[in-house]
Amino acid sequence: MITPDFPAIRMRRMRRDPFSRALMRENTITVDDLIYPVFVVEGQNRRDAVATMPGVDRISIDNLLRVAEECVKLGIPVLSLFPNIDPALKTNDGIEATNPEGLIPRAVRELKKNFPELGIMTDVALDPYTSHGQDGTVDEKGSILNDETTEMLVRQALCQAAAGVDVVGPSDMMDGRIGVMRKALEEKGFIHTRIMAYSAKYASAFYGPFRDAVGSAAALGKADKFTYQMDPANTDEALREVALDIAEGADMVMVKPGMPYLDIVRRVKDEFKVPTYAYQVSGEYAMLKAAAQNGWLDHDKVMMESMMAFKRAGADGVLTYFALDIARKLKAVA
Ligand code: PBG
Repeated sequence: MITPDFPAIRMRRMRRDPFSRALMRENTITVDDLIYPVFVVEGQNRRDAVATMPGVDRISIDNLLRVAEECVKLGIPVLSLFPNIDPALKTNDGIEATNPEGLIPRAVRELKKNFPELGIMTDVALDPYTSHGQDGTVDEKGSILNDETTEMLVRQALCQAAAGVDVVGPSDMMDGRIGVMRKALEEKGFIHTRIMAYSAKYASAFYGPFRDAVGSAAALGKADKFTYQMDPANTDEALREVALDIAEGADMVMVKPGMPYLDIVRRVKDEFKVPTYAYQVSGEYAMLKAAAQNGWLDHDKVMMESMMAFKRAGADGVLTYFALDIARKLKAVA
């Protein structure tokens, strides 16, 4: 069958040569799109491999500074820090999260002292600090207490802001936390601290390797996070979550996980037109790495294609464990 306007319209004409493909390319990947999540651990010269995330290590602050230096050289705009906390410091309420001399505030101070131009983001959530691996305080019946947790999160965010962090990233999914956090930051004079809200964060099995990395997996055991993270079946609920976080004072919003949730990224971007980010989470990274290590997928090609998919879906940036590799690759072809 020949279409009526054939051969006037031949879609393959524009695809024929690299120059015309470049001319009509709608999206591009740049280093400005990258947020690099790193796992930090106590000690000196540590670089402990995370078994379920090939190529990702938990690193001590001295090595973190080396990583930061490379990020600055490559032009990666921002690092996002996640701690692996000594189990002896973990409690039901996760109070260590508010310790100004804790691992994360110290890491932030060192980074900002050595690389003031590099953006630093910190996770605001209690799961690396709690004895049960949940993101909040748990009562006798096993419920996660919203308002008590929020109070602790505000203290954690203020502690990080005092250490000089540029962006706080509440990843806890408690109700109302963005509003109280914004108010507290303003009242304490931290008027420039940006909030990247993990707004549409789903209760996903793709977070498995991350929980190994921060050391919350064993404590969490078979428990789940369905009473605060979102049901993977929903989309309208994600828009309500984003609307609330924007109204409460978030500067940026995030959808998480990434690739399996690109429909949500697109809906959020279309609806709100605010800076929108996606998190290519640990399980997505592990899948691609494992397949590449087996020779089943081409590592660099799937890495770059997945980045492009985020851009095409409307993401302004992506948290990805591939950030260094992507930046190195962009630099090599430039
Ligand atoms: C916890 C947190 C999680 C991730 C980021 N912050 C895991 C969880 O909610 O259990 C997941 C990131 C990843 O999988 O890469 N506050």
